[in-house]
Amino acid sequence: MSDWNQIRRRFEQAGQGHVLTHWDDLDADARSTFQAQLEDVDLDLIVRLAGELLETGQAAVPKLEPAPVIREPRPDEAADWGMMRSEGEETIRQGKVATFVVAGGQGTRLGYDGPKGCFDITPVHGKSLFQWHAEKIVAIRERYGVSIPWIVMTSHANDEATRAYFDQQDGFGLPAEDLIFIQQAMMPAVDAAGKLLLAGRDRLFLSPNGHGGSLLALRTSGALDQLRERGIEEIFYFQVDNPLLRMLDPAFIALHRRETAEMSSKVVAKRSPDEKVGVVGLIDGQHGVIEYSDLTPEQMQERDAQGRLRYNAGNIAIHLIRRDFIERLTEGGTFELPYHRAHKKIPHLDDSGRLVEPSEPNGYKFETFVFDALRLARHSVTLEVPRELEFAPVKNALGEDSPESSRDALTELFRSWVESSELDLDVSKASAVEIAPAVALDRDDFIRRVAAGEVEPTDVSTS
Ligand code: UTP
Repeated sequence: MSDWNQIRRRFEQAGQGHVLTHWDDLDADARSTFQAQLEDVDLDLIVRLAGELLETGQAAVPKLEPAPVIREPRPDEAADWGMMRSEGEETIRQGKVATFVVAGGQGTRLGYDGPKGCFDITPVHGKSLFQWHAEKIVAIRERYGVSIPWIVMTSHANDEATRAYFDQQDGFGLPAEDLIFIQQAMMPAVDAAGKLLLAGRDRLFLSPNGHGGSLLALRTSGALDQLRERGIEEIFYFQVDNPLLRMLDPAFIALHRRETAEMSSKVVAKRSPDEKVGVVGLIDGQHGVIEYSDLTPEQMQERDAQGRLRYNAGNIAIHLIRRDFIERLTEGGTFELPYHRAHKKIPHLDDSGRLVEPSEPNGYKFETFVFDALRLARHSVTLEVPRELEFAPVKNALGEDSPESSRDALTELFRSWVESSELDLDVSKASAVEIAPAVALDRDDFIRRVAAGEVEPTDVSTS
């Protein structure tokens, strides 16, 4: 088969002929699926990434500076933000905003058997992350009388299970045309010598290509075209694991549009100088995320005139991205984001065809990060928000950023809503408090609805 000979030649010329070691042992079915997988591999990219792996030269050190940050006033000093909120609400009402969750990750740290979005998170009713996000979207649709497309990105690792879950939940009541599933691409991994790793005799080891893969997936899936046809101008990007998220925050939308920003970010003040989080800053004068490991110990401790950490804008992966910016970045199906490598334990076949489960990192996975698109954006706004109001991700099974800390944050948020309202309900002793998005979207909304007699104590769940 000439096709096949061409593929073999391409892999051999790229120094990757070893992936075909077991070819002769494969039956026709295995050969055809393996061939299809190999045809998908961007060998030029792999050769380049493997080459970089073996380079020893020092990379140039970029010039880092903090980014200008806008601080949202605390809720009790928010009067002057009223105008901005109204502007953002008008943009939502006009149907110009879509929402986009990335849920293609493997959630290895949480160790949950299934897509992370199916994980039960709310403190009283145990609603899943997907359901909780969906309820917010449904509530916003009803509030503004507008359809809001929701794009859900999965990966090969969890696509089937995610779709099955949405089917089983009847799409949470969202119309089928407003629920758009897309799948990100997968990337091969290499060993320390830059050789592709095999997961079996008839397949490469593959893993999702990072949340940066979401931008290209929007293009290749046709979702971007759909959004353009529907008049969508802004995409609200969020990660599946943060139930505290303020969905489609109108003030953020208005700020981003006033500055004609192409991509904007929400950040929170770091917990401590050495919190392991990327910081939104200026890298050689361009907005970007400075990785934790790229700050020197001195930079990490540096403080400004007000005594705040100079590099303090912790990235929480909530962005507004203009649709036409993504179109520009992915023009012609190409992709401009850099690949980062992660040294990992990767199960693989050794030369003798035996499956090895390494106990130490043995290979490299390659991922792109969505925040690297900030460096390509013409304008960007960075909005700092209080962590306790907007960010409580579920990353680890226990301790910091765990289901427990996330549920506690939800309870504290809702407790504060009730306590700052006139609702006749004592939640001071409740161990868990939950208020559905259908009741209120944020604290001001809750207070207003209570004052208008639209909320009953039974609308607040406690345990
Ligand atoms: P994380 O970097 O926290 O990874 O992803 P993760 O997969 O959830 O968990 P670990 O690191 O394996 O424990 C942050 C967000 O980006 C999405 C995740 O689904 C999550 O919403 N993501 C990550 C993708 O959609 N694709 C990827 O390739 C990686």
